[in-house]
Amino acid sequence: METSNLSSDEIKKEIRKLVEAYYDTTFKNREIRLGKDLIQPSGKKFDAEELKLLVEASLDGWWTEGRFTKKFEKKLSDFLQVKHAITVNSGSSANLLALTALTSPRLGERRIQRGDEVIGVAACFPTTVNPVIQIGCVPVLLDIDKETYNVKADLLEKAIGPKTKAIFLAHTLGNPYNLQRVVETARKHNLWLIEDCCDALGSRYENKLVGTFGDIATFSFYPAHQITMGEGGAVITNNDLLVQEIRSFRDWGRDCWCMPGCQNTCGKRFQWQLGQLPFGYDHKYIYSNIGYNLKITDMQAALGLAQLEKLPFFIEKRKENFSLLGQGLSKFNQYLQLPRAAEQADPCWFGFLLSVKENCHFTREQLTQYLNDKGIGTRLLFSGNVTKQPYFEGVTYRVVGALENTDYVMNNTFWIGVHPSITLEHISYIVQCFEEFFETPKTKN
Ligand SMILES: Cc1ncc(COP(=O)(O)O)c(C=O)c1O
Repeated sequence: METSNLSSDEIKKEIRKLVEAYYDTTFKNREIRLGKDLIQPSGKKFDAEELKLLVEASLDGWWTEGRFTKKFEKKLSDFLQVKHAITVNSGSSANLLALTALTSPRLGERRIQRGDEVIGVAACFPTTVNPVIQIGCVPVLLDIDKETYNVKADLLEKAIGPKTKAIFLAHTLGNPYNLQRVVETARKHNLWLIEDCCDALGSRYENKLVGTFGDIATFSFYPAHQITMGEGGAVITNNDLLVQEIRSFRDWGRDCWCMPGCQNTCGKRFQWQLGQLPFGYDHKYIYSNIGYNLKITDMQAALGLAQLEKLPFFIEKRKENFSLLGQGLSKFNQYLQLPRAAEQADPCWFGFLLSVKENCHFTREQLTQYLNDKGIGTRLLFSGNVTKQPYFEGVTYRVVGALENTDYVMNNTFWIGVHPSITLEHISYIVQCFEEFFETPKTKN
């Protein structure tokens, strides 16, 4: 195509058309062939819009946090009805930032210091617990309930000691925990509450979106999650002081809060005197925290924006797939423990959790191997019992009660997909495969 006489806008228009054509020929009609391709336990769903916005962000030539990031943060905070949404480069970074922000000296008495304790569960994704270790604190790990896979809430009171400063819990696979009890306990003991909502965007408790109950919440936008940026995440809060600290730790620890490309947002860029620096030292280069750089690019935000448009559909589809799988698999409840939500909860599930019941004539591994052979992908509940992971050797932690159900889950639990690319036909096939497995005689090996 001859482009030398076209304006930038006209070329952009052509590019958009080409991207759309590329999507149509390359991705549009891709289908999972039953028994041949793997029905992945998780995965992204996108159309030409994601590719168009991604290209548009690259054509801006800006690339770092910019107009798409601003729009994304606004849209996400509107969706969640919170004051602040701060983008980061992963859910793990979001968790690290959420907890690290609470170490800020600006929080006075309530700041978290080395040697303090943070309550969590042992059946977790590792990067929900790792930040506790990374900031020099002690994880206090509790057992979970066998049907909801969430913290046994009555253990919380028993776990609280003089050094406890925070509760940091994930809504397991999108299933909201007993927020009424958790929030009540946190308030009663003046503890910070961080909700790890990495798997739970769109889940509700008492009709309110999760992430809006605690002091800070985190999200992941890795492709497995409710929406994706490729890699990405967000930290949200309603607290004006915390948002400053979160941004500071995210952006090298700096004191200045100018957006990239901006200057003198504070109106006194050359009139600060902090630390032992001379008066007037450029605020852009004053650091009040030991920070990181965990920012995203504007291309990631562009992807995220296109995905946010589809979020209501994604939420409904996940719920529908969960419900259909539940209906199909309930007839096997002599073998399988099906997942349960708390009474007040309306989860946007990340996956469909199943546990092989005690004294079955087969093992979890026999079942997951069979399903994988049939093209049905499975995953375990993350780290199982995190204290048994190789990296936990040498870590200082405390356990309250026995991790009985956590061990059970480590040995017997797995999950399959409910993501929006899974169709009714896939679900019928999945149920049929389970049926075939149970009909085939086997001995435990
Ligand atoms: C509960 C939970 N927290 C944190 C993370 C980390 O997110 P990311 O992979 O974006 O670092 C995950 C990842 O899936 C997760 O499931």
